[in-house]
Amino acid sequence: MSAAAALRAKFPLLVANPGLHYFDSAATAQMHRSALDAVVAHETGARANVLRGSYRLAEAADRAYEAARQSAARFLNAAADEIVFTGGTTAALNLVAQSFGCLLEPGDRVVISQAEHHSNFVPWQMLRERRGVELALIPVLPDGTLDLASLARVIDDRTRLVAVTQCSNVTGARTDVAAIVAAARRVGARVLLDGAQAVQHGPQDVQALDVDFYAFSGHKCFGPGGVGVLWGRAELLAAMPPFLGGGGMIGAVTEEGYTWAEPPRRFEAGTPPIAQAVGLGAALDWMMGLDWAPIHARESALCAALIDGLRRIPHVRLLGPEPSSARAPIVSFDIAGLHPHDICQVLDAQGLALRGGHHCAQPLLAALGVEACTRASLALYNDEADVAALPAGIVRAIGVLK
Ligand code: ALA
Repeated sequence: MSAAAALRAKFPLLVANPGLHYFDSAATAQMHRSALDAVVAHETGARANVLRGSYRLAEAADRAYEAARQSAARFLNAAADEIVFTGGTTAALNLVAQSFGCLLEPGDRVVISQAEHHSNFVPWQMLRERRGVELALIPVLPDGTLDLASLARVIDDRTRLVAVTQCSNVTGARTDVAAIVAAARRVGARVLLDGAQAVQHGPQDVQALDVDFYAFSGHKCFGPGGVGVLWGRAELLAAMPPFLGGGGMIGAVTEEGYTWAEPPRRFEAGTPPIAQAVGLGAALDWMMGLDWAPIHARESALCAALIDGLRRIPHVRLLGPEPSSARAPIVSFDIAGLHPHDICQVLDAQGLALRGGHHCAQPLLAALGVEACTRASLALYNDEADVAALPAGIVRAIGVLK
């Protein structure tokens, strides 16, 4: 059995659909059996609310939820009390924009890039409206990578936060995080990394990355949907006011007012996504047990082969950097005269699942000169058969649609 086949065997949806060529892991990666099993075990064996009950079932739920926090902390090489469970990356980014954002003054600058997903774009535009902060953009080059030559100009001494993606969800381009951090540190700015597209390619080390905030989603790294993580440095979380008010995030409440709990509880108002967090913990534990070097080598080889196959097709224009550059296995392309939605529909009829549209990155697509594109994203369970099927499917799609 090949390495990809052995991995694929652990994904119930892929096992149930042997003819499916799944190319949309950048939107949602398939769920690993261990995550699914952990959710079922939790819901059937330890379902209770957390941090509220003193009966044994509730204590079991507390232990499972906090064990998941420990797993997330190990996955990021962070401390557990710096891990906030959220509803996903979008919720984590909004939390920072709200809670860190309200510490900013009119005239302070937040820097993002032109390559951001709308979830790391709109919350900062909303903050600009709310607080009068200035929003500045690191432009992209024609291949979708960030223009690092602009950093000294864009990240100026009014900059308080630089919030960028670790990896583009459209082009797969990986950000030179060290260059961003160096430019931010020169002016004393904090750095937030949107790790949504990086986490399915292995554990991360926020200490080595030397950033201040890190956000990701469970459904992108083989776990359940509806749960995500915000990691923040302890001293930053401690200085930030809560975003949502409610149960669990308080010290005490009187008719006159309330006090806040310490982080991470301060940022987890209401009943959290308990079983989802438990499932995410299992997915992260599984990922931490993998040998990633051969997986990365295989993902890169498949990505290069896919790009090569697509380049041979007339009318296909590839977006993004060269296969040899630092990139995740995400390949987007435009076919002159054809709408991505039509292409995706014809591909779907052949068992090829791809996403087409603006990919929630309209400023990036505008910079690349397209309104929409078709995207193929690969994960550790994709194989040579997938990569062979896609160019052939596209040739058929062009034949049908042109
Ligand atoms: N962020 C996800 C994507 O790029 C939904 O498809």
